[in-house]
Amino acid sequence: MNGIVVRKASPADAAGIVAVLETVAAERIYSAIDTVWTVQQEARYLASLSPREAFHVAAGPDGLIAGFQSLDLWSSILPSMSHVGQVGTFLLPDWRGRGIGRLLWRDTLDFAKDAGYRKLAIQVRASNTVAQAFYSALGFKECGRLTRQVIVDGIEDDEILMELFV
Ligand SMILES: CC(C)(COP(=O)(O)OP(=O)(O)OC[C@H]1O[C@@H](n2cnc3c(N)ncnc32)[C@H](O)[C@@H]1OP(=O)(O)O)[C@@H](O)C(=O)NCCC(=O)NCCS
Repeated sequence: MNGIVVRKASPADAAGIVAVLETVAAERIYSAIDTVWTVQQEARYLASLSPREAFHVAAGPDGLIAGFQSLDLWSSILPSMSHVGQVGTFLLPDWRGRGIGRLLWRDTLDFAKDAGYRKLAIQVRASNTVAQAFYSALGFKECGRLTRQVIVDGIEDDEILMELFV
């Protein structure tokens, strides 16, 4: 769609990923992420991912990173939760509502199946009803709420927990 290609990210994509996160963090309303790593920190993080973890990026023909979807282990230390992954999705404003989230999800879900996950979980700000609609459309079900879990610019928000059995 529109020359967008989804591919697994490498540390070389750190600048593009940080640019997306900086934009979303500056919007202040969509994510609990209110401060963003440097490009160097992000590159180190991408290089440190285990074989069962991946970021997928949606890249335009000019190489612009329009957005990305992350898949991390829910817990990097508990073998009892090694079957659970956590997902995050972030797009630049101009690229939202154009099917890119679904495109990213196709690759993330394939990767999650190959990596042996049995369930995926996400935390979404309660005020972010668009993201809840997005994850519901992918098959996630709401399964809990952490009350007053986020404070950004002095404004409290809950976090909605959603899960999907792979
Ligand atoms: C949430 C987000 C990742 C969704 O990605 P997207 O590419 O815009 O979503 P898609 O176009 O692939 O839409 C997939 C489905 O999600 C739902 N959806 C997407 N945007 C929606 C909106 N504005 N209102 C209601 N439902 C919406 C629809 O069911 C849609 O399916 P459809 O096109 O068949 O109707 C994207 O809007 C975004 O990056 N938002 C800002 C950052 C953010 O909130 N990230 C989540 C933090 S937890």
